[in-house]
Amino acid sequence: MSGGAGVRVGIHDLAVATGHHVLDLDDLAARNGVDPAKYHVGLGQDAFSMPAADEDIVTMGAAAALPLIERHGTDGIRTVLFATESGVDQSKSAAVVAHGLLGLPSTARAVELKQACYGGTAALVAALGIVARDPRERVLVIASDVARYDLDSAAEPTQGAGAVAFLVAADPDLIEIEPASGLFSADVDDFWRPNDRSTALVDGRLSVTAYVDALLGSWDDLAERGGIAPADIDRWLHHQPFTKMALKAHRAWSKHVGAEFDETELATGFTYNRRTGNSYTASVFLALAALLDLDDDLEGRRLALFSYGSGSVGELLTGIVKPGYRALRRAGQVAGLLDARVPISVDDYRELHAATTTTSEARQNPEVTTGPFRFVGVEAGARRYARTGVGTSEDAIG
Ligand code: CAA
Repeated sequence: MSGGAGVRVGIHDLAVATGHHVLDLDDLAARNGVDPAKYHVGLGQDAFSMPAADEDIVTMGAAAALPLIERHGTDGIRTVLFATESGVDQSKSAAVVAHGLLGLPSTARAVELKQACYGGTAALVAALGIVARDPRERVLVIASDVARYDLDSAAEPTQGAGAVAFLVAADPDLIEIEPASGLFSADVDDFWRPNDRSTALVDGRLSVTAYVDALLGSWDDLAERGGIAPADIDRWLHHQPFTKMALKAHRAWSKHVGAEFDETELATGFTYNRRTGNSYTASVFLALAALLDLDDDLEGRRLALFSYGSGSVGELLTGIVKPGYRALRRAGQVAGLLDARVPISVDDYRELHAATTTTSEARQNPEVTTGPFRFVGVEAGARRYARTGVGTSEDAIG
């Protein structure tokens, strides 16, 4: 992004974390009496991550950020932006808690951002502006969410959990974000979570059309602002509430602009989301991680990144992948993280789901997580967190 000083800004490094458990959608299909192909083919999902009783958005978000701090230190980090739509407090931001757990300097601002699944991209855009204003600064962005719907609802197989953290900096090593973006907002009740609920309410059908409207609206806005031609985009990344949604939306875009579209092109970006389920604000960045890890060669390629947050806001950004980006990615690290999750039975999943509460009653959580941070419990109405002494997920994978 060219700021006042014409500085190039973008994503310098990026890391991933997820929940302790995994539920295989074959098991859920058997329990629900549904053909497993509905989930694997119809929704494009194979499994979903689920946090243990002593994990939440804060522990996952801090776990995603820890390797970035270990690799790059804390110098220049004066802002922590935490995007989530499954926030755990109505006042105190998850950013402040993550800031403390990560041992960041006190000379920093820490803020939580919310607009459904769009929040991570809102944080990215805010971070680009902060760094363009003063290129000596770096911004730590954390996108972390637990997607929870009611048991036995149509949305149940599209649950999930995950976090992606990234550093936004001048002269980035991974991706330079280009200045123009396409925007679209419309007040729609397709998905929301009232204050008294721990599960989201969703009008599934409306959410699908609202998503498509936002993609087409964002594209048209970008085009009107002198945006690029369809053929100038080498790879597409979309928000993936379930991967079939991205496919449906891309089909609609392809028809809208009259472009040819080979459906297999999107498959690489689906790889991690198929296994984690929806991670809301983190979803499109998890797709980015998959592309960076698994695509043959992205050097100098232009990526289009479409973010959608129900309610609704869409934004379409583009970025150019930097030469040498591969040196920052550890092959097999995210796959190893996903392989290391502990399978949970449908009965245990249902029990854990039902036990998840938003109350501030005092409690001690059981010690389950093998991640670097845990949600210890609630004391005097406040959530308590701790470092476990376990290394980062990268250490665990070796
Ligand atoms: N083999 C293969 N495919 C099958 C099948 C089988 N045996 N049985 C059904 N299918 C297919 C259906 O044909 C359908 O595919 P198409 O849409 O391509 O026709 C697909 O499986 C799903 O079937 P249904 O539409 O019958 O599924 P459903 O009504 O039970 O639920 C849903 C689907 C409404 C999307 C539901 O999962 C849901 O509400 N999810 C949450 C909402 C959501 O994620 N919305 C997306 C946009 S909103 C957003 O992006 C924000 C966010 O993150 C939430």
